[in-house]
Amino acid sequence: MPIISQILGCGSYLPENFLTNEQLAEKVDTSDEWITARTGIKRRHVTREDEYTSDLAFEASLRALDAAGVKADELDLIVVGTTTPDRTFPATAVMLQSRLGMTGGAGFDVQAVCSGFVYALSVVDGMIRAGTAKTALVVGADTMSKILNWDDRSTCVLFGDGAGAVVVRGAEVNGEAEPQGILSTHIHSDGNLQDLLYCDGGPGVNQQSGFLRMEGQEVFKHAVTKLAGVVVEALEANNLQPEDIDWLVPHQANKRIIDSTAKKLKMPAEKVVLTVETHANTSAASIPLALDAAVLDGRIKRGDLLLMEAMGGGLTWGAALVRW
Ligand code: ACO
Repeated sequence: MPIISQILGCGSYLPENFLTNEQLAEKVDTSDEWITARTGIKRRHVTREDEYTSDLAFEASLRALDAAGVKADELDLIVVGTTTPDRTFPATAVMLQSRLGMTGGAGFDVQAVCSGFVYALSVVDGMIRAGTAKTALVVGADTMSKILNWDDRSTCVLFGDGAGAVVVRGAEVNGEAEPQGILSTHIHSDGNLQDLLYCDGGPGVNQQSGFLRMEGQEVFKHAVTKLAGVVVEALEANNLQPEDIDWLVPHQANKRIIDSTAKKLKMPAEKVVLTVETHANTSAASIPLALDAAVLDGRIKRGDLLLMEAMGGGLTWGAALVRW
């Protein structure tokens, strides 16, 4: 009997502290008008100095487990998409495993920057379908504020901190016409484009965590074309048309990039989940944060068809089609 990975529940967490555009304009030479017009961002949540990615991941995971009605000791796999781990090692996933009181199962991190959640979902879906895991916690968590140069206005205005998580469990498909779960995932990378968006530190380079560097306009152009391509790939793989999609749940980098993908799909604004205004770009956390917001406020209902897509440093990009 074929196995499908069902998403039993989701949860998310944002740090309490936040910075508005106006507050940022007191620190660097920018303005609310510039940031809003270029990105749609109005504010972003930022961790305290002593608050880390694993703290946000833990809170989001507790909420996801609660929503799913699953206890931590039922999990046999934790995969965290993050590019800002607390430490170079161990993985954030094993820190999370310990905090959740688990003594069994396996945990590891996936590093695909803003595509981290889609990548993590893809890896977990494959493991569940292959029968090597049964019940998994998939987390997207990042504290980009810790690798931003807060004097560089071209990057520091774009990002925020947060975490989101889903609980995924394998279920047998018994010939249902429209089975609930992850229908397909599609991941890509092109390392030749690594210089467009990268962090200039690391254990090998300078033993520092470093700062995020970005060629904004080039990244923008690649995001528009690569995301348009991968959403079509996901639809075609499932013999679906854009009008079949109930909700686009995109990575929240920039409202103009999201609008462009929605336009390509001819999706009306009401079908697009947008959180970039208040979350900014939370990297791997942005899709599960947006998903959780729309599930909690009742927009996303069981049986709805969701299209998730993301692009990030690497460059990496990907999409996932899910029947909720
Ligand atoms: N406030 C005011 N002015 C600014 C700021 C700022 N925060 N940042 C840059 N500027 C200035 C520049 O110095 C430049 O001034 P100049 O004309 O005097 O030289 C001017 O604004 C225009 O700069 P550009 O870089 O050309 O601005 P652009 O219109 O390309 O917008 C932006 C920049 C918002 C970064 C855009 O390129 C973008 O959204 N790129 C995508 C990047 C992205 O989303 N990255 C996230 C990671 S990847 C992903 O998640 C998809």
